[in-house]
Amino acid sequence: MSSPLLKIENLHAFYTVPLGGLRYGYRKVWALKGVNLDVFPGTTLGVVGGSGSGKTSLIRAILGFLRPAKGRILFRGMDISKLDRRRRMEIVKEIGYVPQEPSQSINPKMTIKDSIAEPLRPLGLSKEDIEKRIGVVMEMLDLDRSVGRMLARELSGGMLQRVAIARAIILKPRLLLLDEPTSFLDISTQAQILNILRDLKEELGLTYVLVSHDIDVVSYISDRIAVMVSGKVVEEGVAEKILREPLHPYTSILLNPEGVAREISIANSETDLCPIRSWCPLRMKKCSTEPPPAVKIDNEERTVLCWHYTT
Ligand SMILES: Nc1ncnc2c1ncn2[C@@H]1O[C@H](COP(=O)(O)OP(=O)(O)O)[C@@H](O)[C@H]1O
Ligand SMILES: [Mg+2]
Repeated sequence: MSSPLLKIENLHAFYTVPLGGLRYGYRKVWALKGVNLDVFPGTTLGVVGGSGSGKTSLIRAILGFLRPAKGRILFRGMDISKLDRRRRMEIVKEIGYVPQEPSQSINPKMTIKDSIAEPLRPLGLSKEDIEKRIGVVMEMLDLDRSVGRMLARELSGGMLQRVAIARAIILKPRLLLLDEPTSFLDISTQAQILNILRDLKEELGLTYVLVSHDIDVVSYISDRIAVMVSGKVVEEGVAEKILREPLHPYTSILLNPEGVAREISIANSETDLCPIRSWCPLRMKKCSTEPPPAVKIDNEERTVLCWHYTT
């Protein structure tokens, strides 16, 4: 097997929030609690988890917007969380990002063409080169030239998302990070965007990390799936295997529509113990006293964070 393009090792990260009220001071909210992930070139890793499980924080940490408290983020073998600013900027060009809302990357006052071209600005390219690059990415995303003169408010959600993707690939990245790329679209447009992403990946030899709360979206496009709960990856492996035979009880619930409808309690506490230990059908005594181990299954192909599989 080739070496991973992106390797995340024991990543921990927190936010600092004011205590508020009459009490002064701050407390830490841990968003990532020991995440380990390997992403191989040319593959799609789908990260699925409920709201607040740490999906956006994971992307923010890779982009350098959230500093790791512990652990490493290796891109092409380099720890990008420890590079100086200049070197980091160079590397990060190879990592494209499609934020959750197009409004986060597309300026409403700029024409669409200027928005798409904005990441090219610091490169000092000639006007012709810039035009050429814009033309190429707009064609790839099936955006008519006339769209380039429009403003964001004139476009539908699906079109805006295509613009956001065009903008994210204009620097020719190797890795594309996609945060809930279809969550604000209707079902038919969702499929259209996912198909475009799939084609684009083949055409450009891209690698994706796609995060979503929607298991259907992740199933549609992923080679491997990682399931997140409360800042931890509780199960990771080949997509078909996880979908066919989920091992972690939380994955089973995600895959069972009735289970999703039920309100499930996730202990988003500061402890390192299993976040579903209070209601898990497989729980053991140990689950309340010791953090769950990462157990390798299927010839090391799958990892499950659960005491049950140690026996
Ligand atoms: N800017 C922030 N300040 C404080 N806490 C935050 C902030 N952003 C996220 N969090 C907290 O971090 C955890 C993970 O959030 P997030 O990464 O946004 O999850 P997801 O994208 O899976 O919904 C949650 O507990 C959330 O409340
Ligand atoms: Mg999010």
